[in-house]
Amino acid sequence: MLNLLKNWKNNNQPQASDMESYTKEDVLNGHVPEHIAIIMDGNGRWAKKRALPRVAGHHEGMKVVKNTTRIANQLGVKILTLYAFSTENWKRPKFEVDFLMKLPEEFLSTYLPELVEENVQVRIIGDRTGLPDHTLRAIEKAVIDTKNNTGMVLNFALNYGGRKEIIRAVKSIAEQTKNGDIEIDEIDEELFSSYLMTESLQDPDLLIRTSGEIRLSNFMLWQIAYSEFVFTDVLWPDFKDSHFLQAVGEYQRRARRYGGV
Ligand code: IPE
Ligand code: IPE
Ligand code: MG
Repeated sequence: MLNLLKNWKNNNQPQASDMESYTKEDVLNGHVPEHIAIIMDGNGRWAKKRALPRVAGHHEGMKVVKNTTRIANQLGVKILTLYAFSTENWKRPKFEVDFLMKLPEEFLSTYLPELVEENVQVRIIGDRTGLPDHTLRAIEKAVIDTKNNTGMVLNFALNYGGRKEIIRAVKSIAEQTKNGDIEIDEIDEELFSSYLMTESLQDPDLLIRTSGEIRLSNFMLWQIAYSEFVFTDVLWPDFKDSHFLQAVGEYQRRARRYGGV
């Protein structure tokens, strides 16, 4: 028994201190997560550290979105979901919100041709009706221009909130149950998932959050039931390919048991 306990100590999960650094080749030798979701956090603190306005951090963060999309695509990731603006982020000063709502246009005006070329499909989850027209137009153009692409899905969560998404699904299912289009007994996990904004997209395998915050901030509450979480202290504008590879490498060392042994 004593030995068993000793072994238990030694066989514990890898600790941060054991972390190796992973190359692209290392990661490609293992199972690459099919769906990676990222809470891109820390832009404001990145700017503050440099005595810059917060929006400078958002602008720098946009470049990191490009890099991360490229490396994810090179690794053969199927879906990359990026949390870009939450339903709670409207609480921020108007100047900052206005700036954030202009970023998709700037990002897509320079990067859409490359996304088309790289066979990436752009999608969006979140409440579209709350977005300014100019933001929505830019995104809808990208969605339409890439809709026949068959490669990686680049899924932006914009004006997205996990609880609102669940309430919206519940309302639609309730409505259809009332009309007799759905029987109560038909409501199961699969049906419920199909009413979420992620619709047919599979659940994330790996969730990464930058900036050292250890919370979900209302992101994909249903979908991440069995995702692996990697939290890193790196601020989003500083997030490099090497950090992305590190997170995937860490994922590859985990044993996903789904309640089994
Ligand atoms: C993440 O960075 C970007 C958005 C939430 C839009 P933050 O702006 O939250 O940066 P911090 O957390 O204040 O450093
Ligand atoms: C979560 O970050 C939202 C996005 C990254 C878009 P926040 O910075 O808004 O989260 P909190 O306020 O620290 O929980
Ligand atoms: Mg933040």
